[in-house]
Amino acid sequence: MSKLQIRGGAPLFGSIEVDSSKNALLPIIAATILTNGVTTLKRVPRISDIDNLLKILISLGIKAHFKNGDLIVDTRDITYTEVTGDTASKIRGSIFVLGAILGRFGMASIPYPGGCAIGSRPIDLHLQGLRDLGITVREKNETIYCTRTTKPMPKTTDIYLDFPSVGATENFILASVIGKKRVRIFGAAREPEVEDLCNFLISCGATICGAGTSTVTIQGVRALHGTTYTAIPDRINTGSYLIATAVCGGEVTLKNTNPTHNLNLISKLRKAGCDIATDATTITIKSTKRPRAIGTVQTAAFPGFPTDLQSQLSVLMSIGRGTSAITENLFENRFQHIAELQKLGGKYCIRGRTVTITGVKELCASLDEANPTNLTASDLRGGVALTIAALASQGTTIVHNAQYIYRGHANIERDLVALGANVIRLDF
Ligand code: EPZ
Repeated sequence: MSKLQIRGGAPLFGSIEVDSSKNALLPIIAATILTNGVTTLKRVPRISDIDNLLKILISLGIKAHFKNGDLIVDTRDITYTEVTGDTASKIRGSIFVLGAILGRFGMASIPYPGGCAIGSRPIDLHLQGLRDLGITVREKNETIYCTRTTKPMPKTTDIYLDFPSVGATENFILASVIGKKRVRIFGAAREPEVEDLCNFLISCGATICGAGTSTVTIQGVRALHGTTYTAIPDRINTGSYLIATAVCGGEVTLKNTNPTHNLNLISKLRKAGCDIATDATTITIKSTKRPRAIGTVQTAAFPGFPTDLQSQLSVLMSIGRGTSAITENLFENRFQHIAELQKLGGKYCIRGRTVTITGVKELCASLDEANPTNLTASDLRGGVALTIAALASQGTTIVHNAQYIYRGHANIERDLVALGANVIRLDF
């Protein structure tokens, strides 16, 4: 278990390098199962979701180790196609292993995936699409059993996604890249992480067109080989640090970013009054005054405003000049941070999927270090939001359940201290 002790109230100054994307690397690491060789993934952050996914791959007979910050995966000796144990039920990313094992071996079984408790996290779209691909799907004792049919399949199979599910799109791609058939996915997710998975698979020898668009076409190939690849920067962690600077004030430069992945957020931060300059790989944000209210924001699939930045943006709105609102359209339980933010003086009104936020001049924590304000994280991005709020609050705050944060941040305290923040990680 971990908690963060934060003495807030100071602006942020300096520069940090953003890690490679958790949500790109999880499907890419699972995709190494499809290759028969050795793959080197550059600059892989040591976050718990990746560590848990690697435990699953190693249980299949795969060899994986870190060397100088890179991850080397050797998939030449895979011996199992069945995932067992409780690791799979800890992370959402385990669902990608199903598609990858199926793609290479034609049969697989895996316990239901886990993930942050931000909603029910169903997998009905995944299973329906796999059935469309001619895969027999059985569910028993919280486990999914899949077998590719031996019946002749048409030369082309079309899958229509009624919702652009990121994970389902990625799973269908993983299940289709090896073989003799063509698969077209209509209504595919357009997130940069989906495009990155396609680019990784193409570097392994796959034939994929339309990566990053709503229609993805996969022409099966006989086999895939290992490769060396660098995943895209983490656009959500980039957004979190941009919002932290907008909330706390100061001037911060983020390196190893791709500004084109954060255009929606950048437009909102400029509307709030921040100065933001970008070049191909860096973003510099300057915030010198209390942010202006930014009206109503709806979370949506890419290129809409990302749900993974919703809780962080609500902190910016909490100190904005005026009233704002956020509607969370993707997950039904992603306002757990609001009750915690109220402890710092924020003013909120939740009606259904919308939280209306009345900006206050500043958030305040306990000025008695011996009796700090205690906040409790319930999920990764909510935990980051509480950390941002604590950074902006004069006084001392403890963020409990900080282990959620380490699902997506290798060392958030190191990054924030580098920007001048007073943050101490306490493990117990
Ligand atoms: C991915 O989750 C991300 N996780 C999430 O990030 C992100 O919030 C989400 O995409 C949306 O962008 C990873 O990539 C590992 P979805 P995923 O399938 O694939 C419903 C973070 O903090 N749905 O696009 O699970 C679902 O309930 C995490 O890094 C079904 O109904 O998201 C949700 O309402 C949190 N049936 C919506 O679709 C299904 O079979 C979006 O889900 C699948 C999804």
